[in-house]
Amino acid sequence: MPKKAMLHILEEISHVICTPLSCEEILQLTVEKLATFINVSRCSIVSIPEGCAQAEVVATFEDRNLKGLTIDLAKYPEIKKAIETRGVVMVEDVSGEPLLKEVQEELHSLGIRSLFVAPIMDKDRLFGTLFLRICKKEGHLTPQEASLCRIVSNLISKVFSDKHYMEELMETNQELNRLSQLKTEYLSNVSHELRTPLSSIKGFAETSLRLKLPPEKQRECVEIILKESERMERMVNQVLDISRISRGKLAEELVKKELDLTSELEAVVKLFRKSANKKSITMHKRFGKESLPLRADQDRIRQVIGNLLSNAIKFSHQGGIVYITAGKKNRQVSFSIVDEGIGIPPSDLPYIFEKFYTVERGRARRFPGTGVGLFLVKEIVELHRGKIEVQSSPGKGSTFTVTLPAGRAAEGGQ
Ligand SMILES: Nc1ncnc2c1ncn2[C@@H]1O[C@H](COP(=O)(O)OP(=O)(O)OP(=O)(O)O)[C@@H](O)[C@H]1O
Ligand SMILES: [Mg+2]
Repeated sequence: MPKKAMLHILEEISHVICTPLSCEEILQLTVEKLATFINVSRCSIVSIPEGCAQAEVVATFEDRNLKGLTIDLAKYPEIKKAIETRGVVMVEDVSGEPLLKEVQEELHSLGIRSLFVAPIMDKDRLFGTLFLRICKKEGHLTPQEASLCRIVSNLISKVFSDKHYMEELMETNQELNRLSQLKTEYLSNVSHELRTPLSSIKGFAETSLRLKLPPEKQRECVEIILKESERMERMVNQVLDISRISRGKLAEELVKKELDLTSELEAVVKLFRKSANKKSITMHKRFGKESLPLRADQDRIRQVIGNLLSNAIKFSHQGGIVYITAGKKNRQVSFSIVDEGIGIPPSDLPYIFEKFYTVERGRARRFPGTGVGLFLVKEIVELHRGKIEVQSSPGKGSTFTVTLPAGRAAEGGQ
């Protein structure tokens, strides 16, 4: 093949690769130009998703109907070998080639005499292969043609890697947009949630200043002001916790000591009696007096139990039941908060531990909250080398289970 012709076809192919066409169009044009130039009738590009046993024909000169076809790599040992060795596979005469023993008959019936496969890759990432099946009348590729095909497969890798990075960029962009949207909703939720106790504090403070109230009424007003300011304090603390987590401060600030999970559960359940009573919810403790040793930060563990319990009560129906179970197994202690409330749709389950995520959004929201509670729960549990799991079905209820390594007091025992 004259050098001039080779340079000319390379120039044409690199020109195609630089055009602002779609990836599919570029690959198709490249295959057509290459196949016509070296005069082979079967030339394709297949893409191979990472670790996949199948490939997809993304461009082909053989038959346009093949495009989009999924091929089983087990039936193409030459492609499999090129993937495994990350190198060019060239078979000058297919008859008698041990690699092709199983497919010999098929190749023969198609009149194929030689094969050429070159991997398309960028650094270590393999995208696919350039794949030529050469029929009798054309013989096998000359060394110049083979090196031309190798150069073309290198050029094509640029098309694949651009597409790959573009897809990654688009995915990241989509994720950033989603997070930014959640953040905007969070800001609007948090201001709304802060305004409610704030108006209540303002209202009761004004009333007790303006009106001459009897001492017991005055006391009631102050108690409401205190309760509402505690609610605000909790919310502000949650916001501060988020920033602590993103600065890695929460981990540094943990003060771990030997605790008894049973006592911590008892203490938190007591705190939630009043809010459960308000909705006529019964809280059933399904654990005994047995000590469940745990080494943890007491305030943070109470925060975990509290956030889960507050959700269980919030998302339960009037008159519902919330169960609290706990136990010890294989040097681990665990507890579950079980409710029979509204449950969580399966499509939302993967996201509920994300910062700012709430199942109901916008104006349709029926429950107060900023979507931060579970995020903090997961972070705290993981900082204690534990895990949190959830099972839920809409209309039936949810079970949140926290498992933590048992404390030192458990050493030697079960
Ligand atoms: N027990 C539950 N039953 C039904 N849905 C739940 C339950 N727990 C959590 N969810 C869903 O998961 C979402 C995230 O929970 P999370 O505790 O993080 O936020 P929140 O309760 O809405 O607000 P916050 O805890 O910040 O006050 C909730 O908004 C709710 O949609
Ligand atoms: Mg919550």
